[in-house]
Amino acid sequence: MSDTNWIDALSADELPADDVIGVVVAGQDIALYTVGDAVYATDNLCTHGHARLCDGFLDGHEIECPLHQGKFDVRDGRPTCAPVAEALRSYPVKVEGRRVLLRLG
Ligand code: FES
Repeated sequence: MSDTNWIDALSADELPADDVIGVVVAGQDIALYTVGDAVYATDNLCTHGHARLCDGFLDGHEIECPLHQGKFDVRDGRPTCAPVAEALRSYPVKVEGRRVLLRLG
């Protein structure tokens, strides 16, 4: 893939420290997570019900859904705690300069 597949999401200055933020990128609701210096991206909508993960609680690499407290690993979207069973889609992220770029694919 060429660099043209990367989509500008937001300024790195808008990222919260060790927390989650919801952003709409190219019409898709995306959750961005910061864990130390790393940034991860997944779909923002929980695979179990209609809850936005940006309203949940980030603990290390795990995001806890605000509705039924299911959990996902933000690095790859895999479920780590019931009742969630279906993985979230996760997306490559990079920071170039002060911009956060996503590859939605
Ligand atoms: Fe997320 Fe139920 S809606 S765990």
